[in-house]
Amino acid sequence: MPYAHITGWGKCIPPASISNDEISEIVDTTDEWITTRTGIKSRRVSHVSTAELATVAAKHALACAGIDAKDIDLVILATCTPSTVVANTASQVQKNIGATGAAAMDTNAACSGFLYALQAATAQIQAGMIKKAVVIAAERMTWYVNWARRDSAVLFGDGAGAVVLEAAETPAGLLGTKTGCDSEDRDILHITNFGSDLNKYEPIGPSDLLFEGREIFKRAVKGMSEACDDVLEQANLSLDDINVLVPHQANLRIIQAIQHRLKVPDEKVMVNIADYGNTSAATIAIALCEAVEQGLIKPHSNIMSAAFGAGLTWAASYIKW
Ligand code: ACO
Repeated sequence: MPYAHITGWGKCIPPASISNDEISEIVDTTDEWITTRTGIKSRRVSHVSTAELATVAAKHALACAGIDAKDIDLVILATCTPSTVVANTASQVQKNIGATGAAAMDTNAACSGFLYALQAATAQIQAGMIKKAVVIAAERMTWYVNWARRDSAVLFGDGAGAVVLEAAETPAGLLGTKTGCDSEDRDILHITNFGSDLNKYEPIGPSDLLFEGREIFKRAVKGMSEACDDVLEQANLSLDDINVLVPHQANLRIIQAIQHRLKVPDEKVMVNIADYGNTSAATIAIALCEAVEQGLIKPHSNIMSAAFGAGLTWAASYIKW
């Protein structure tokens, strides 16, 4: 059975940022509150669409892999902020990058989306159905943000990351994974007044991103830690074998609590939430790229990654770089 090596990676970080002090001029909050509760110092706000963010990240990843877009068999885009729903956003990216021979599909598992998409593309390569894929996670979360609500306005940001997968014979890439969804409590994190559930013949109120922060916090820590334990057991590894932990970046205190539970030292954890906030599916894709840039991830590094998000979806993955 072939493996799906990660041969290229790239990101798109929107140039415009909003600092905590600037947000404090819009809503009733402070840099001190945001920093101590979340670890976020600023977030990026995109002036272009999710498809454009995804396109830039994918082009960087293809250039890094040194392959022609025409050789790609699958473009898979993880997003909960699609530019368009019909046609799907991945088709726009396929067109923009010139991957004319590729299938194109969107996946939505919110913050867990990148790991879900990585699993789906890897499975197709392992099954021999395809040979090369671009897995992208791109989000324009600020498009959902109600800037009058201080609870959500401070948390989210925009950005994209991508990896190229290629079939190869030696064991590397995604080597262990577990995904799941605690759907009975899906309402504790949702967007109101959005989607085809609505009666289109009645007036639709403004949509809002609503969540029960404390409950999500607890579930995220438990869900991500337990999923990591399961994947390690499945792969017959211990945390000592892991070189880098790349967690979803929703709150620095969530990351620290997972670190504490798993007993992972600071120097093994990739954290960039201070600069970007929560970019949903894109956090792990961007963090992987930056961990490589910073030398934290090296060739053959063993990486554990975990995510938790709306759905309530969760995922953990063991990746050999
Ligand atoms: N500035 C100042 N005060 C605020 C702000 C703000 N931006 N936001 C909320 N508050 C107030 C609340 O109104 C509340 O006031 P009250 O006590 O008078 O009612 C008080 O701060 C405490 O609110 P809590 O919700 O208890 O604060 P908490 O310490 O739990 O931090 C946070 C809130 C940051 C949202 C945290 O719960 C969290 O990170 N949760 C998980 C992340 C999350 O839900 N993300 C959504 C996406 S899902 C995901 O990515 C996993």
